[in-house]
Amino acid sequence: MTLAHKYVEGSPDAPVLLLLHGTGGSPDDLLGLARELSPDAAVLAPAGPVSEHGAARWFRRLAEGVFDHEDVVKRANELADFVVEAREKYGLGDRRLVAIGFSNGANIAAAVVLLRPEVVREAALFASMSPVPQPPDHDLSATRVFLANGERDPMAPLASTEELIGLLRERGADVVTQRHPGGHQITEDGVRAAARWITI
Ligand code: MLT
Repeated sequence: MTLAHKYVEGSPDAPVLLLLHGTGGSPDDLLGLARELSPDAAVLAPAGPVSEHGAARWFRRLAEGVFDHEDVVKRANELADFVVEAREKYGLGDRRLVAIGFSNGANIAAAVVLLRPEVVREAALFASMSPVPQPPDHDLSATRVFLANGERDPMAPLASTEELIGLLRERGADVVTQRHPGGHQITEDGVRAAARWITI
């Protein structure tokens, strides 16, 4: 497989959760969150393949919040190919798959949704921002995205989140948003809202 990962089987009636950690994280980081979101879900948790001074990430950045867009596109395609490969390897067939991402993991999830919508149709994004400035005009009418963002998040400014929401909605995606007064974090309210969103 192209990406090191952890796979934990779950109920075939629950979605498969694709867990995408933040900068410096690992496949284990979001396992607890996955259990809160969907207790019986299978989880597919890859490791970010890019090293930033030893911290695992999903794509390169030039500075905080300044992305290497060419690398975003390349890495989003790599992750999408990995998901296709994993479906085959673990016999997932056409089981529902929902990407769950935090921070840099949410940003790569957003990129895959925009660039390879046939691979990831549903995503819950915590502390995400807009990953690519002018994504192709894919039809996202079969796409659902949940976004939770902090009003005081210096790393994922609301202007960039709003840009992402606009890109998704312009392409026909069903977008649900949640705001909290905090910063770059996952809140209890956000988890509860995402859990409800997943069961719909
Ligand atoms: C990113 O680089 O994706 C965002 O700035 C969030 C982060 O990982 O710090």
